[in-house]
Amino acid sequence: MAVLNVNIDHVATVRQARLTDEPDPVWAAVQCELAGANGITVHLRQDRRHICDRDIRLLKETVACKLNLEMCMAEPIVRIAEQIRPDQVTLVPEKRAELTTEGGLDCLRHKKRLAQVVRRMHKKRILVSTFIAPDQEQILASAQTGCDAIELHTGMYANAKGQKAVQKRLADLEAGKDFATEKRLVVHAGHGLTYRNIGAVACIRGLCEFNIGHSIIARAVLVGIGQATTEMIGLIDKFSEE
Ligand code: PXP
Repeated sequence: MAVLNVNIDHVATVRQARLTDEPDPVWAAVQCELAGANGITVHLRQDRRHICDRDIRLLKETVACKLNLEMCMAEPIVRIAEQIRPDQVTLVPEKRAELTTEGGLDCLRHKKRLAQVVRRMHKKRILVSTFIAPDQEQILASAQTGCDAIELHTGMYANAKGQKAVQKRLADLEAGKDFATEKRLVVHAGHGLTYRNIGAVACIRGLCEFNIGHSIIARAVLVGIGQATTEMIGLIDKFSEE
């Protein structure tokens, strides 16, 4: 059975739009956990565009389920992970100009650095996952550097147009999962997953963890906006009675 980690970055995106203190991702994490999430995922980006250092410090104190920190391998970020000690880090590539993580990590190209980071994380008892395309060379490099898990990039599946292309991307994910399992890696998946496209990937046996963010936060805004409006009308009515 697979489990869900909710990526709450975009709660912080809304907060940062006004540089205020609401909505607080720490409150959102509590709600996700109460609703049954297996874990909370946050990406501490180098530009701190959404999640900031204060958030991960407080999340480390308050999250009782799994705390999964997405991060690049830049030295200042690796040091923060060593200090905070999340349960798991998911290593991703990071470009300053991108809207969201674009491709998978190139574990072959960065094999030496990856091996160093894995060693340092393991010293702090932090599990390491790499966010990669379902590509045998990338999976092998993750296994050879001592990673515990991989997160298969589902973005190509999510963006595929037409039945044939979708089936091809699903077959790639299944083959990647089989190869990684053979190499004794735990297999996660994420990126671009929505209420519409989750079904077919959730059918792939052996995928253990899904990391889903944007679609859940988008749905939360819409299912919650009615109640939020009613509450504000209630206050206006109460104070404008006379
Ligand atoms: N997994 C990884 C490695 C990511 O970088 C992201 C985006 O931050 C996600 C999962 C979640 O993607 P989405 O927001 O599209 O659900």
